[in-house]
Parts: sequence; structure tokens; C-alpha cells
Amino acid sequence: MLMGLYIQAREYRIMDYRISRSLRMKKRILVGVVLTAVVVYVSSCCEMKCCAKKCKEPGKMSVKTEQFGKTADGQQVDIVTLTNGKGLTARIMTYGGIIVSFEAPDRSGKPGDIVLGFDNLDGYLKGNPYFGAIIGRYGNRIGGAKFTLDGKEYKLAKNEGENILHGGAGGFDKVVWKIEKAEAKSSKAELKLSYTSKDGEEGFPGNLKCLVTYALTSDNKLEMKYEATTDKPTVVNMTNHAYWNLAGAGSGDVLGHELTINADKYTPVDKGLIPTGELKDVKDTPLDFTKPMTIGARIKQIDIGGYDHNYVLNGKAGKLKFAAKVYEPTSGRVMEIQTTEPGIQFYSSIGLNGSLKGKDGKAYVKYGALCLETQHYPDSPNKPTFPSTVLRPGEKYETTTIHTFSTK
Ligand code: GAL
Repeated sequence: MLMGLYIQAREYRIMDYRISRSLRMKKRILVGVVLTAVVVYVSSCCEMKCCAKKCKEPGKMSVKTEQFGKTADGQQVDIVTLTNGKGLTARIMTYGGIIVSFEAPDRSGKPGDIVLGFDNLDGYLKGNPYFGAIIGRYGNRIGGAKFTLDGKEYKLAKNEGENILHGGAGGFDKVVWKIEKAEAKSSKAELKLSYTSKDGEEGFPGNLKCLVTYALTSDNKLEMKYEATTDKPTVVNMTNHAYWNLAGAGSGDVLGHELTINADKYTPVDKGLIPTGELKDVKDTPLDFTKPMTIGARIKQIDIGGYDHNYVLNGKAGKLKFAAKVYEPTSGRVMEIQTTEPGIQFYSSIGLNGSLKGKDGKAYVKYGALCLETQHYPDSPNKPTFPSTVLRPGEKYETTTIHTFSTK
């Protein structure tokens, strides 16, 4: 009897064990199924989100060339659209090598055009203060519109009182550049423009062969490279005159933009805006942007009505270095500039007054943009202590400026 009870109890235990084992198995299967379902659901959501993000992007790296119009003397002008597949789109025309529009996303991913300009070629042909243009042969001013090189004096074409500004009335901003290359590679969408400035053009000596490369890269950079060679000793100082408003072109003034400039010194000027030759400290003046500061914070203290100053960049000329950074708090857009140039002209568009109507008929108001023109110092051909702008036959002029776009 005892033996029988013992056997029965053992059988119950075995049964119990089997039942709980099969329950455990069922539990494990259930957990497995639930986990798999969760993983599948989460990953499909991610895919949907990625797709939504991808759909917002304008596509892959691409380059497209179209006709844009004709100059008054009948020359054809083309416009090239570069896209980097990450939200940057630049439209650059062959007249003046002008950046007609530049789209960058704000912090929510919404693209916006952040350079001042016009919808069509006519707008540019009617006259404007160098919107988005390539500037040359000599950016900014040469005092008295003359300089002496190797004992010979060269008289240049005055276009601002006694001085010459931005290469003269027929500067590089008003000529039609030739497309040498317009190509989309895997890492960049690139446009190469060439122009040969004739010996004696605007008074400058030497046939100057120029090549300007604009590229949008996969890591959200706008690269600008300037190259030139000459057949006679001459002076060269090329730059780009884009008017940036990171909140959107025509959206008002840029006084709330936060600016940093990597410069402890600037070049003071006389009444005609020609440098005196000195280098002065920015410390304890409204010109100090060594730490981020809104443009509007001290602008009223500037006697010429706003910023129009050449900053002496810290670091070595010829080496790519941090030059400036701009942050616009409402859109979250950030633009950082690096350059091989020794200087940068910070121009707060003092000359605009609302009378010029640009894209979509929007009025371009005073302080409606900021220009950050990387360059050699103004009037260097007459200032032996400034870094030289002389280019001789056999030498190559080569400078690079890179703008990096992001949001925060
Ligand atoms: C800037 C220059 C200003 C003004 C402007 C064009 O580069 O520093 O003085 O001439 O171009 O309106």
C-alpha cells in the first residue's frame, strides 16, 4: 500500500514537471512572438520615418544647366543648378558667376533661399550692389585708382570718386564667364567657370586667365576656389560678394544674427575707406567679434552707420583656417567660413534702403544681409607692409574659401 502511494506521488510529480515544462515552453514561445512583433513594428516605423525624410530631400548629387537670358549686347547667359542631395541647392549663372539663389534647410528641415538677388537676369542687368557676384580683378578699393609695380605706374579705371572699387565699372561681376565643367560626382556637384581678363582691362596689366570653381559637397559645404595665371606682373584679389540672410532673403534685417570673426585686428581706413596702413586691435571696440555677438548689439556705435571693415584674420595666410561663423536663432541655420585668405570684409549692407526689390518683389532693407568677403586687405598694391597681391608670370594664384552649413 505504502509502495503504491509512493509510486502514485512520483507519477504526479513527473506529470506536474511535464505540465510546468510545457507551460514554460509556451511562455517562452509567446515572449519570442511578442518580441519579434515589436522588433518588426519598430523597424518598419523607422523605415517609414527614413522614407519620409528621404522624400523631403531633393534627391542625389546633381547638376543641371539651362538658359537664363541674354545680356544687352546679345551674349547668352546660362544658369547652373547644383544640388548635393542633402538639402543644399545653389543656382549660379554665367553672368558675373553670380550665386542667384542658395537654398539650405532650417532646423525643421524646411529649405529656404538665403542669398539676396533677383528672379531673372534683367533684375541683375539693371544694376545692384554686387549681389552674389565674383569680384575681380581686385576686390575692394585701390586708393587713387593707381599703383606702381616694378617701377611702372598703372592708372586704373576710377569708379568711386578718385578710387577704384571691386575691379572697376567693368569688373568680373559684369562679364559672362565660360562653363568649363559642370559635373556631379559621388562626393560633390561642381561648376568650373573661366574668364580671361585682357591686358589693360580696367587699367590692370597682363592677360589674366581665371578659373573659379564652385562645389557643393556631400558634407554640406560650399567650396569656392579661385585660380589665375598671368603673362605680365599684375595684382589679383578675387572674392565672392554674396549677401547672406540666414532667416531668408528679404525677411528683414540681420541685426539678430550672431556673428563670430576670428580676428584680433582690423585695418582702419580714411574717409574714402582706404586703409591707413595700420593694424588696430578690435579689443574694447564695437568691432570685436572674437566671441559670438549679435550684429545689432553695437552697430549704432559705428560712425559710418554700420559695419564695413576689413578684419585681419588670426592664423597663417595661405593655410585654410577658421574665419567666421554666423548663427540665426529663429531658423537655427549656422554658416561657418574657412579660408586661406589673410582678411575678411564684413559689410552689413549699409547701402541697402528698401528701394531695391528682389526675388518675389521683396524689398531689401538696410542691414538686410551681411557680406563676408574673404580677401587680401584693401589697397594692398600701395601698402608694402600688407601681404602681397602681386602675381608674376610662371606663378599661380590660388585661394580657397569654404562655407559649411548646419543647424542648431
Ligand atoms: C563692399 C564694400 C562696401 C561697398 C559694398 C558694395 O565690399 O566694402 O564699401 O562698396 O561692397 O556696395
